[in-house]
Amino acid sequence: MDYISQFDSLFKRKWKELATEWKGRGKDYYKILFVFPNLIKVLNKYLILPKKNLKIADFGCGDGCLTQLIVKYLIQRGNFEKVEIVGIDISSNLLSSFQEKLSRINRTITETYNLDITNHFDIGKKFDLIITSFVFHDIIRIDNLVKNINKHLKINGLHINIMLDPIFSEIMYHKGVLKVLVSKEVLIDDTIIWRKITEFPVITELGKIIYIPHIHRYLGDYINILINNKLLPITIEHFKAENKSLNNYYPFRNNKIYNPEIFQFPSTNLIISKMGI
Ligand SMILES: C[S@@+](CC[C@H](N)C(=O)[O-])C[C@H]1O[C@@H](n2cnc3c(N)ncnc32)[C@H](O)[C@@H]1O
Repeated sequence: MDYISQFDSLFKRKWKELATEWKGRGKDYYKILFVFPNLIKVLNKYLILPKKNLKIADFGCGDGCLTQLIVKYLIQRGNFEKVEIVGIDISSNLLSSFQEKLSRINRTITETYNLDITNHFDIGKKFDLIITSFVFHDIIRIDNLVKNINKHLKINGLHINIMLDPIFSEIMYHKGVLKVLVSKEVLIDDTIIWRKITEFPVITELGKIIYIPHIHRYLGDYINILINNKLLPITIEHFKAENKSLNNYYPFRNNKIYNPEIFQFPSTNLIISKMGI
């Protein structure tokens, strides 16, 4: 096996193993108090809601902590007869949390698929909105993931990608916070699919440090991969948390440092793309 495939399988295995500890991070105040309010401002600007049925997919959905807020919000905004939500993840453990959270919301039908989003798949449906939240920088074969997003978006459907700002990752790299496994750029089909393969420390509620996969790329690398796969970025937004309400929660949680050595708020990027013809 070549070394791209080796890291690819290693990180997939790792995500399956990480599921319980990922849930053990406790309530994700960063996403709830900071990412969500900023995200809905952007959604309001760009998402044209269908009249009757809204179809949303979440690729790499995890436990659905952010998605449940987005769905509740969109249900308040629109007058839908029903909302179909599809969650896809490599971890069956996280999918059951997703199913439980989302199916509690009225007028929704939730389905989950235990799939690898970087392998070719087709669930035979097209969506108005596909969310990838804190997933792009966790995945080696991002080119394959974007192909799958393309296949499942309606014409004029939106893809919304939420991720850590690559400049924040760069700062973390220079501070020595990231554990670097490989430092070598790799090109596939003329696009850079990674710059460095690293792991990022996160602390759980029990105070245990876990390392999650973190692939280091530049913002331009993401844009190139999207455009090469006919997903046309229409806006890129950057949020830097200065929200005082987060101070009680981040970077501290239960008086423990959430991300060791990180004494500043992370910043987040949103890339919103439209499905081109
Ligand atoms: C950092 S978590 C983000 C979870 C969720 N989207 C959120 O914002 O809370 C990354 C998620 O991607 C999933 N994942 C990683 N690699 C995957 C793959 N190859 N196929 C499907 N899911 C994957 C993990 O199991 C995990 O749930």
